[in-house]
Amino acid sequence: MIIAIDGPAASGKGTLARRLAAHFGLPHLDTGLLYRAVGRIALDRGLDLDDADATADIAEQLDVAELDEARLRGREMGEAASVVAAHPKVRKALLDLQRRFAHQRGGAVLDGRDIGTVIAPGAEMKIFVTAAPDIRARRRHLELERRGDAPSFEDVLADIRKRDIRDAGRADAPLKPAPDAHILDTTALDADGAFDVALALVTGASRGA
Ligand code: DC
Repeated sequence: MIIAIDGPAASGKGTLARRLAAHFGLPHLDTGLLYRAVGRIALDRGLDLDDADATADIAEQLDVAELDEARLRGREMGEAASVVAAHPKVRKALLDLQRRFAHQRGGAVLDGRDIGTVIAPGAEMKIFVTAAPDIRARRRHLELERRGDAPSFEDVLADIRKRDIRDAGRADAPLKPAPDAHILDTTALDADGAFDVALALVTGASRGA
């Protein structure tokens, strides 16, 4: 079974995807990390993030085994990822890797922006996780504070709004729910609540299949 989890920044999709993967014993891929890694390497090499060819070269050579999650989580990495993710060449370079992961035997859980629409349009379960921008900003703010990063709440909210606009407005694989996705609004739900709703959707779908 392939479970596709999409949604905007700090919607809770990563936590939900990890928990579903653990529950069903499926491998999990956080596809945002791929774009974050491309952004990080480009910045480390002093390259321009707007350079589609140079960033696509990095994407083509990306070694998933070397993704260092701790270094990729920072605030500026989310922004860099969003910029390189708007280049169709970068997205194309990362496509096969994600499809292979999705279609490995036994299935997988992937989370991102375009899993249900582009990477795995045939996924048995698609959940589009969303929440009001100020709630997402509050969550992300808390998470950054815990990491020792201390931007203001207003800065975090501005980052999130900017990223939403770029991710949803790009021409190639924009952030949007697949027509057959279930919308899960986590504005009034904590992680346990979101997991319970998602679990009911997945078990309901597999019973109906
Ligand atoms: O999920 P995240 O915040 O780690 O993602 C970082 C950026 O990467 C996001 O703003 C847009 C891009 N992204 C994408 O375009 N497609 C994906 N499947 C995952 C992430």
